[in-house]
Amino acid sequence: MSGLIEKKILLGVTAGIAAYKAAELVRQLRQRGACVKVVMTESAQAFVSPLTFQALSGQPVHTQLLDPAAEAGMGHIELAKWADILLVAPASANFLARLATGQANDLLTTVCLATHAPIVVAPAMNQAMWSNPATRHNCQIIASRGIRIIGPANGSQACGDVGLGRMLEAQEITEALEQVTTGGLLMGKTVVITAGPTREPIDPVRYITNHSSGKMGYALAAAAREEGANTILISGPTSLEPLFGVRTIRVETARQMLDQALVLSGGADLFIGCAAVADYAPEQVALQKIKKDGNEALNLRLVKNPDVVAAVARLPERPFMVGFAAETENVLQHAREKLHRKNLDLVIANDVADSAIGFNSDRNAVWLLDAAGEIAYPEQDKRQLARRLMQEIAARLERHNSRKL
Ligand code: C5P
Repeated sequence: MSGLIEKKILLGVTAGIAAYKAAELVRQLRQRGACVKVVMTESAQAFVSPLTFQALSGQPVHTQLLDPAAEAGMGHIELAKWADILLVAPASANFLARLATGQANDLLTTVCLATHAPIVVAPAMNQAMWSNPATRHNCQIIASRGIRIIGPANGSQACGDVGLGRMLEAQEITEALEQVTTGGLLMGKTVVITAGPTREPIDPVRYITNHSSGKMGYALAAAAREEGANTILISGPTSLEPLFGVRTIRVETARQMLDQALVLSGGADLFIGCAAVADYAPEQVALQKIKKDGNEALNLRLVKNPDVVAAVARLPERPFMVGFAAETENVLQHAREKLHRKNLDLVIANDVADSAIGFNSDRNAVWLLDAAGEIAYPEQDKRQLARRLMQEIAARLERHNSRKL
């Protein structure tokens, strides 16, 4: 049953081409049983007419701060009190800036200040505007006040650019609101996730690494945070945007990752080893750049790195342990062997021989396996897959904890 049944959702629509997607969003929210009222900023009305939202929501659309039709002329207070959730989709760069500085210069920003309801924003803007330090800073301020930022997604934009800035699809936004109403499956839990590659230095300018992009681990961290977990991400070097609301610790080498993992896992409920930790590191790191002159061949002696996930699994008070298995053949057999050898509770396995999925791709297909059996997850977007996996992992963690009682 949908958690949105009879929930009162106040949808703020700000200026952006993604405003047309907000129309579909109203439809989906109502299909799930929510009652929706819409507030539009003045510029948003240049993109979609208030009449569209009036027809779809079955309610008058609010556009003015000073609304003579509202009881006692205080429409903003009435709307602020009415809402169970305040959702702003699309949220423009200008709106985020006004929200961050606590402005109250139109109906929507005033309602945001006046409401006690949880606020969720789904940004949509050009990729350069999204990555601008001013917008990044505004988002940090907003997130630190408990406002949830969902998205944006990566992809092609209306302006012709490609990058981060597209508003999430209506279904993804609806799912995020469902989580707000349930409080999340991992509420009160601490989750530690490793992500990305590690980088093992040879000398001050060279290193050994691998193709991991970190996308799957970051998507899992975002999903854990969406489920209400106190989320800690131990990240190797990646080019990914930092995640709001996720404590991120950056490391370079496997040894640094191990040190952080051992410290941060004390008291954690769940550990997910998603990093592609380099298996070997140079035994000696040259203090000066190794010169190639006169050296036709170079011998590097590599020594085995510590196994981070296996070391955490050996802790006396270990969290629920999830590992990954990236394989090129006999995927399930190798993954099951890893489950036992590393003393894990669950393994997520994928076939990295298939270049359409896995490393660096935005898509993945996996199996989730444990002592009881396996579940196949067909190829899908990594963010969606991460949400599905996190729901399954949370359910198993719950069962595991209730057996311990
Ligand atoms: O042994 P293999 O690298 O195939 O195992 C993959 C799993 O083990 C992943 O969960 C990975 O994060 C973890 N791992 C680790 N430390 C290593 C090697 C792998 O945590 N040194």
